[in-house]
Amino acid sequence: MKIKRAGSLVWLALAASPASYAADFPDKTITLIVPFAAGGPTDTIARLLAQAMGNNLKQQVIVENVGGAGGTIAAARVARSNPDGYTIFIHHVGHATAPSLYRKLNYSSIDSFEPIGLATDATSTLVARKDFPAKDVNELLSYLKANKEKTTLANAGIGAASHLCGMLFMSAIGTELTTVPYKGTGPAMNDLLGGQVDLMCDQATNTLGHIKSGKVKAYAVTYKTPVASLPDLPPLASAGLPGFELSVWHGLYAPKGTPAAVVNKLSGALQFAVKDPTVKQRLAELSTDPVAENRATPDALRAHLKAEIDKWGPIIRKAGIYAE
Ligand code: MLT
Repeated sequence: MKIKRAGSLVWLALAASPASYAADFPDKTITLIVPFAAGGPTDTIARLLAQAMGNNLKQQVIVENVGGAGGTIAAARVARSNPDGYTIFIHHVGHATAPSLYRKLNYSSIDSFEPIGLATDATSTLVARKDFPAKDVNELLSYLKANKEKTTLANAGIGAASHLCGMLFMSAIGTELTTVPYKGTGPAMNDLLGGQVDLMCDQATNTLGHIKSGKVKAYAVTYKTPVASLPDLPPLASAGLPGFELSVWHGLYAPKGTPAAVVNKLSGALQFAVKDPTVKQRLAELSTDPVAENRATPDALRAHLKAEIDKWGPIIRKAGIYAE
């Protein structure tokens, strides 16, 4: 069966039945689109999952990085891709916040995709270049009030988790800093390590190693409760910013119209990946939790995405965060 998409028109040219198409799937390499630059947390998670999913599907799953605009460029591209199972997409909580952050998106986070399953969950961490003056959250809050003009805050563009975290933080402390967008927090981290930018709020997946080796200074986690791998860091919610909470979850999607039997095969491969011992161990080293197997399913992701869109809409509107 060949599935082609021409503009908004999707047509199926059936050379065989959908069942036999799914039975043969996959018979070539699958591309997993990462909506951020290489070297960041989404890329790290994607590469671990791709390897394990490929083992399960007995086909290569390759990662392609399509960074920019907080993940929305990649999302729009995947939304327009052939719904044949050979182009799939990983995105995080940003897929749920983009509809509220952007006045106009040329895709729908719900209607343009078939959910494959949830994948991981991680805390974000508020970190600074290692010689940043403040030694703890209290000092940081006073420092920022007095030095807001000269303090820079990196993010991966509007729609990125680092952007959301930074905006929530600035809104909570009532202080606007100069934000510096990158195509992902991989390159942003390079600049933080090099001292070209001051602060970033990014997933532990990307920061834990640098925190442990002392290459960045860490102030707090964004989970509501303390995190075992970072026992010295207080949750922002108990460090002067009550109610602050951000958990960065990732999920996998296929373009709308991908046959259900193909989506189910991909979901089976994802379920294999989240319980793969190598994946679990590597994620644990990055303070990132794979979901339980029964959440790596289309239904679980569909319900979670909807709940997160409903949750973040009012928070984003209240904080007055928008992209043009
Ligand atoms: C984010 O800020 O959304 C991510 O950390 C981006 C990335 O994975 O590079």
